[in-house]
Amino acid sequence: MSLTSTSAWQALTRHRDALCAQGMDTILRDAARLKNFDIAFDGLRLNYAFQNMTAETLTLLLALAEQQKVQDWRARMFGGDKINTTENRAVLHTALRCREDTPILVDRLDIMPEIRATQNRVAAFVDDVRGGVWKGITGKPFRHIVNIGIGGSDLGPRLAAQALRPFASGFETHFVANADAFDITSVLQKVDPAQTLFVVVSKTFTTQETLLNAHAAREWLVQKLGEEAVTRHFVAVSVNSAEVEKFGIHADNMFPMWDWVGGRYSLWSAVGLSVALAIGNDNFRDLLAGAEAMDAHFQSAPMAANMPVILALLGVWNRNFLGSASLAILPYCERLRDLPRYLQQLEMESNGKSVTRGGETVDYKTVPVLFGDCGTISQHSFHQCLHQGSDPIPADFIGVANDDLNRPESHRALLSNLAAQMGALAFGQKQAAVPQDVYPGGRPSNLVLLDNLDPRRLGMLLALYEHKTFVQGVLWDVNSFDQPGVELGKRMARGLEKDASSGAQVSNDLIGQFFKTILP
Ligand code: F6P
Repeated sequence: MSLTSTSAWQALTRHRDALCAQGMDTILRDAARLKNFDIAFDGLRLNYAFQNMTAETLTLLLALAEQQKVQDWRARMFGGDKINTTENRAVLHTALRCREDTPILVDRLDIMPEIRATQNRVAAFVDDVRGGVWKGITGKPFRHIVNIGIGGSDLGPRLAAQALRPFASGFETHFVANADAFDITSVLQKVDPAQTLFVVVSKTFTTQETLLNAHAAREWLVQKLGEEAVTRHFVAVSVNSAEVEKFGIHADNMFPMWDWVGGRYSLWSAVGLSVALAIGNDNFRDLLAGAEAMDAHFQSAPMAANMPVILALLGVWNRNFLGSASLAILPYCERLRDLPRYLQQLEMESNGKSVTRGGETVDYKTVPVLFGDCGTISQHSFHQCLHQGSDPIPADFIGVANDDLNRPESHRALLSNLAAQMGALAFGQKQAAVPQDVYPGGRPSNLVLLDNLDPRRLGMLLALYEHKTFVQGVLWDVNSFDQPGVELGKRMARGLEKDASSGAQVSNDLIGQFFKTILP
């Protein structure tokens, strides 16, 4: 039976119709909502009082979660079942932040000892580099870390390095992702080869952009310091030891990851090496501990007070019943400026699917388009559209309650703007001299508030969205852990490149030639 014909879905549809007929205005004005629609634990709060929903909506959404067996799927994920069925893989990023050594079996083998061994190797390497024991070829300690990766091998570490910069010491961390060589050359111009460590992160070690950049970096280093510098200045994180060695990175300088960790869920593994190098082992452990705390909450909190579950259900309510096609991610914190891009990959690569786990084409919408920027910068670019555009766009406002690093005036300005934006979106302004000044209101938003932006709270925040994504995948009945949609374009590009290089004709009209080849 299609999801849209199920009793839980039908009940929500009827409820939506009744609620829309009644109008949300009076409902939103009930002050008790601020307290009733709020979940907080351990320094992280989700307040959803400004969503276009009632307690009854929540009850019906929770019935949908039950119908779709969210709790069973959750147990299967944490237990190591191969829920990524298209790739026949378990999904165990949660094991990476689990501090207990209770065995978790994949193909009847306990993965915990290997996780611990890798964590110990990473920690020892971090201490050696930070302590100046692992030096560059000329004997100088490292000062620059250059992370070369893309997608999940870039966005998580990039976000965490920026968010936790106040916890960093000793190094400048740089991130290179784009195939456009401007990216790598801009970094190489800034760093001293004798003091630069390259961390090449690629689960597959076949990703075109990463290999282009890694080769560019390698050539530059060899030119400056000679071939023997490569073993001291390059390390890799990958599952593919053969390709890593082919590139010229010694097996001892490679940190493993595993096929049961998806790229976009991999910050917690050795993929986070650049972050650990920047902030040190203790802070990196706190990041993992925060994610672990969210895992525990997700597993044990009642469904009606379960932060990721509620966040996911509200998203489905907006997407499938109120018709929102997008979601704005608005961190009111410069250090979280990379969060929108990180969540774009997390949610859109995970749930940007139109075929169910059973192979049926869906007859309902799945993931919305995520976009965003830092508030208040976003207020001066796209908020006009949030307030008065023809499509209501739900938004997640992410704030930091206490920020000792900020100037008090600036911090106050950030939080007052955040609250004002949420209020203006929710309540609008109905009376105005001219129609252009009318704000319709009724535009839903969540508040996600961190007590502080520290490693633990960041871990909690990212795990919150990971589990939200997982729950939505279960509700929509899609596999959130594969990404077959990215392959066709990759294959076509490889084919075109091969043709172009064998034809040797690289001219100004290259793109024209490519298009001619593509057209059927
Ligand atoms: O093309 C998409 C993707 O496969 C992402 O899922 C992944 O995070 C990224 O490419 C990078 O892959 P890799 O870590 O294998 O280089």
